[in-house]
Amino acid sequence: MAARGTTKRASAVAAPPSCSCFARFVFLASFLLLVALVYSAARPSIIPRYDDRLKDPPARRGDRRTCNYSDGSWIPEPETVPSRYDHTCKEIFKGWNCLGNRKINGRDLLRWRWQPSRCHLPRLDPLRFLHRFRDSNIGFVGDSLNRNMFASLVCMLRSASGEVRKWRPAGADRGFTFLNYNLTIAYHRTNLLVQYGRWSASDLGGPLELRGYKQGYRVDVDVPERSWAEAPGFHHILIFNTGHWWWAPSKFDPVQSPMLFFENGLPVLPPVTPEIGFSLALRHMILYVERRTTMDTMKFFRTQSPRHFEGGDWNLGGSCRRTQPLLPHEVEELFSTKNATNAEVRVINRHLYEVLHGTSFHILDITRMSELRADAHPSTTGGKMHEDCMHWCLPGLTDTWNDAFIATLEDQLEN
Ligand SMILES: *[C@@H]1O[C@H](CO)[C@@H](O)[C@H](O)[C@H]1NC(C)=O
Ligand SMILES: *[C@@H]1O[C@H](CO)[C@@H](O)[C@H](O)[C@H]1NC(C)=O
Ligand SMILES: *[C@@H]1O[C@H](CO)[C@@H](O)[C@H](O)[C@H]1NC(C)=O
Repeated sequence: MAARGTTKRASAVAAPPSCSCFARFVFLASFLLLVALVYSAARPSIIPRYDDRLKDPPARRGDRRTCNYSDGSWIPEPETVPSRYDHTCKEIFKGWNCLGNRKINGRDLLRWRWQPSRCHLPRLDPLRFLHRFRDSNIGFVGDSLNRNMFASLVCMLRSASGEVRKWRPAGADRGFTFLNYNLTIAYHRTNLLVQYGRWSASDLGGPLELRGYKQGYRVDVDVPERSWAEAPGFHHILIFNTGHWWWAPSKFDPVQSPMLFFENGLPVLPPVTPEIGFSLALRHMILYVERRTTMDTMKFFRTQSPRHFEGGDWNLGGSCRRTQPLLPHEVEELFSTKNATNAEVRVINRHLYEVLHGTSFHILDITRMSELRADAHPSTTGGKMHEDCMHWCLPGLTDTWNDAFIATLEDQLEN
């Protein structure tokens, strides 16, 4: 396991001043001080540092391991908390750049701090993170919501160390190695985790044809998509998600283009619903990952990220124009299973929890904190035909997901 607890040896410390030359020592000391001053002056507001107010008080560290980071509330700070990166980070997809696109509440987003009920959530300190996880590979595997989280982490780390090599390890869509730390972070794009493709009825007939299916998508529940199939052997830390595409009727229309599930190369009979296919695929992919990793590989599964369409779904004029987080009772209205538009989030989570129970995966539960943040989507600022109430502004909420991810990771490594 490369994620070792040691930080970098302070190799820059000068040799012991055994040399009689005291003046030389004084010279060296003042030179170092000067370098430190110039260095800190040259780097503006995004200097990576722990914000003292938010630092984990030592007396409360004991609580942390039993703390549920997912249970808490959003507290407004009197002023904007300095972000660890800004709108100039190149990894921010244009439509998510709410500061750059001047979203009306783009800056206010950074005023809200997540406060767990029984402990503090420490803010990820980019420099400390780079030191601690040197010589390791971290892979995000999933849909564009995992890319949103990946971009947040890359931006935080790049603000602390700009020397990177851009490349695509092990089938990744994008990736960076932080050269001074030999730390690689990659994003593997996959919508369903499993392989899928167009299917149409064969003239020779078959069990699906007999049931009247003419076309659809073949979804192989036991075959990982190629973009990430090699990732378990490459990364030391993995963070997965899937969910949005399973409930995407515009692509997988139940009548025009249904999902047709295959296992061992044969159709699952009788055909099952996407909800059941989702569980089947999850079970296979969890097993696939467990067989290809050791106990030392840290495996996370992120819970579903909620959408906040109000007044209709994404293609029916739905919008998300709020400028404040929701109140708890508003969350219940918007996400109750009675309310069709955004109800999938809880259904997906129920299956995730069921399948992940008893496996070696850690669950990163970001759903509750995110359900409250109806204000944190790009909305109209993305400049698309439809409002974006699914992805998140950057900087923004997924920075807090990463805080929770790293805090959970460190707690696990200490245990
Ligand atoms: C942690 O808090 C979340 C949000 O309130 C809750 O859904 C979950 O059940 C809690 N987890 C545990 C282990 O208590
Ligand atoms: C960089 O890290 C990898 C593990 O990710 C390790 O195998 C390799 O030896 C490291 N390279 C150096 C130069 O330390
Ligand atoms: C669904 O959510 C909307 C808010 O977008 C709310 O006005 C409505 O009452 C909710 N409907 C139900 C049945 O909960």
